[in-house]
Amino acid sequence: MSVKNAMTADFLRSAYGGESMANMRYLIWAESAKKDGFPNIGRLFNAVAYAEWIHAKNHFTVLKNQVGDYTVPAGAVFGLTSTVENLQGAINGELHEIDQMYPVYLETAKFQEEKAAQRSFYFAVEAEKCHAELFKKAQSLAKENKDMEDNKFYVCPVCGYTVEGDAPDRCPVCGAKGEVFKEF
Ligand SMILES: [Fe+2]
Ligand SMILES: [Fe+2]
Repeated sequence: MSVKNAMTADFLRSAYGGESMANMRYLIWAESAKKDGFPNIGRLFNAVAYAEWIHAKNHFTVLKNQVGDYTVPAGAVFGLTSTVENLQGAINGELHEIDQMYPVYLETAKFQEEKAAQRSFYFAVEAEKCHAELFKKAQSLAKENKDMEDNKFYVCPVCGYTVEGDAPDRCPVCGAKGEVFKEF
């Protein structure tokens, strides 16, 4: 895997930065949700944090031959308040990635014929769609002071696809076997 074009490389580095911060933010919000009496929403944050780590790792790996120091600008959501508000931050971040960031990055990688970057951006944008839906579900419950049900969450270790309940036989995004999904 490698990248030839500067614009795609810049977008991979920015996406790596954004995913890295999302990973950290979700771990912080997971702890906060558990303290606020929402242990299952806390587990959702832990599961999605792992998915964002997968995305960061994928982007980083595509860039593995681009050795050097860079300043990485990336969007970041801040705030550590109520679980309902933290979930709103999570929803806003996911929707930004789905509607704005990844479609542009993916089109650029297609235009520049960067196959590995296309794969990494495609995996991320598809996974973010299920993250947004899960966070919306969690927020509608938290607004009524209810936690999510005590279901497991499963995350694809290849693309970060995340599901509540049972792992699928095959990941609908990347085709990985359900047995390799990580349970939360
Ligand atoms: Fe996400
Ligand atoms: Fe997958």
